[in-house]
Amino acid sequence: MTTTEDVPWDATQFLPHEAEPTLERLKDAAATCHGCDLYALGTQTVFGEGPPRAEVMFIGEQPGDQEDRAGRPFVGPAGRLLDEALDEAGIDRTRVYVTNAVKHFKWTAGKGKRRIHSKPNAREIRACRPWLDAELEDVAPRVIVVLGATAAQALLGASFRVTQQRGRAIENTGLAPFVLATVHPASILRAPDPETRESEQRAFVEDLRTVKHLLGQ
Ligand code: URA
Ligand code: SF4
Repeated sequence: MTTTEDVPWDATQFLPHEAEPTLERLKDAAATCHGCDLYALGTQTVFGEGPPRAEVMFIGEQPGDQEDRAGRPFVGPAGRLLDEALDEAGIDRTRVYVTNAVKHFKWTAGKGKRRIHSKPNAREIRACRPWLDAELEDVAPRVIVVLGATAAQALLGASFRVTQQRGRAIENTGLAPFVLATVHPASILRAPDPETRESEQRAFVEDLRTVKHLLGQ
């Protein structure tokens, strides 16, 4: 039996044809990607952003509501928290490349005009992977930071548990010299009370200090 899970439909055919496309070329090509159904749901493709040879790449799950409107990753509340944490950890934000495992915003309609974030499934993550692989090849970061379970499982396997393995440098992944997983900044924003939020934020900054150390900064 054929299920939609088996359909080998992904972003590959939308990649630029040249051997080593620049990030700009990749971004242009991704703008018209129909590699999965999500192209019809989001306003636009939200490609990664940052300097071409950034030493560190942060990978989130998918763009949120504000990112979908702006066409830029991590510009909403989670992005602001990330910016603050990078600043506190002493990592220069202008030297960081940020992207997502999935490049379209997946949502369901909420009350009024609200669009509620909906988790991308395994098929969508797989479909979008060629873009992430192309970004990784181009940027070739020294450190990859995966933010939250979706990105962690996409890159490190389905059995990876952020809660148990966060903040530790992982070597020999074949992805970059070092990969480090931590929580998603959006999860910190969902903390049930201010104390929890503060301690989670501190732990997040601590993980970013480890990243800074791995960068030799
Ligand atoms: N959350 C993500 O995972 N990525 C973004 O770009 C914004 C919020
Ligand atoms: Fe293409 Fe990824 Fe958007 Fe799907 S989510 S249409 S694979 S860019």
